[in-house]
Amino acid sequence: TGAKTHTMWHYWTYFAKGVEYTVGISLVAVIIGVLLGSGLAFVRLGKITWLKKLANAYVTFVRGTPLMVQVMFIYFGIGTFYNVSAVVAGTLAVGLNSAAYVSEVFRGGIQAIAKGQTEAARSLGLSQRDTMRYVVFPQALTDIWPALGNEFISLIKETSIVSIIGVADLIYQMRIVQADTYRGVLPIAIAMVLYFIMTYSLTKLLAFLEKKMHHEVTV
Ligand code: ARG
Repeated sequence: TGAKTHTMWHYWTYFAKGVEYTVGISLVAVIIGVLLGSGLAFVRLGKITWLKKLANAYVTFVRGTPLMVQVMFIYFGIGTFYNVSAVVAGTLAVGLNSAAYVSEVFRGGIQAIAKGQTEAARSLGLSQRDTMRYVVFPQALTDIWPALGNEFISLIKETSIVSIIGVADLIYQMRIVQADTYRGVLPIAIAMVLYFIMTYSLTKLLAFLEKKMHHEVTV
């Protein structure tokens, strides 16, 4: 009897660990997403038909199935023949999911650059490759950068799903605190506020960077 009930402050290290995992997983996943997603976009805009079809199928399938199922499939799928840790599988799954969405960001950004730009560059004698590299892509980046920032912010929220395979992210820590304190709602409220602090500060940071970038471009 008389087990001392701690206040939420007692558990701040749990929440801190959770935030650390959530940000870390999101960051690594968005890097995987950008690397793979940009590759997918260039393939989809390219000329190798069978590869295009494959890339399109990947994007359509990944966007057409829940991230939750993908996380479980990657973790338990890899798990049947290789003992992979939950964090690694979870991060990989979110990264592979992100690639599909990022591919759309790149494709949209590149296609938004006027066709006239390509025609002008080509008529000046630039190869197709150089036209993409020196004319189209640098301009597309102005649209792509902010969208990639938004993808990172989305992932902060979306990674909450990896808690179902036991990754020690913010939701996972929240559940531990709930079980430990017999408090149902307060830990949820704290996790929610922490998520908001993460996304809100990132939004502000991105807006600042975007403003700075536009100044450099237009001056
Ligand atoms: N929550 C949705 C799902 O389960 C969307 C995932 C969004 N992913 C992203 N990389 N923006 O499929």
